[in-house]
Amino acid sequence: MALERTLSIIKPDAVAKNAIGEIYARFEKAGLRIVAAKMKHLSRREAEGFYAVHRERPFFKPLVEFMISGPVMIQVLEGEGAIMKNRDLMGATDPKKAAPGTIRADFAQSIDANAVHGSDGADTAKAEIAYFFAETELCPRG
Ligand code: PPS
Repeated sequence: MALERTLSIIKPDAVAKNAIGEIYARFEKAGLRIVAAKMKHLSRREAEGFYAVHRERPFFKPLVEFMISGPVMIQVLEGEGAIMKNRDLMGATDPKKAAPGTIRADFAQSIDANAVHGSDGADTAKAEIAYFFAETELCPRG
């Protein structure tokens, strides 16, 4: 398996629940390393830009409102197969469909407030990491 990096966001609902540490522990127990991190209260412009691919979807406006409703914790995870590993840890987008023991099953209330984001592929991961971090902010340990 290849060494990969992926972008992860702990969303405002999970930050408000004080669950950053528990979610970080899941990343680390799964063999993922946190190689960059920042807490941020996203501006409307930042959230709209990040989710621009979903601009025409009916959930776009509420998604942006939710993502700017409080601070988020943004991190770059690195490890073997990090993109899929993180998606597996997260569980399905809709927490009602998320497998038991996944982050969304344990911390998310609804498809609108679903605790975490994770890049869904190699190209997306590259673009999403660059959206929030300069190359010089990454501390690779692989
Ligand atoms: S899709 O349909 O495959 O494009 O959807 P997906 O990429 O899984 O998710 C799109 C992001 O929008 C968030 N979101 C919703 N998706 C679907 N339906 C509703 N109602 C909805 N509300 C919010 C979803 O969590 C995805 O955000 P991220 O941050 O990528 O997880």
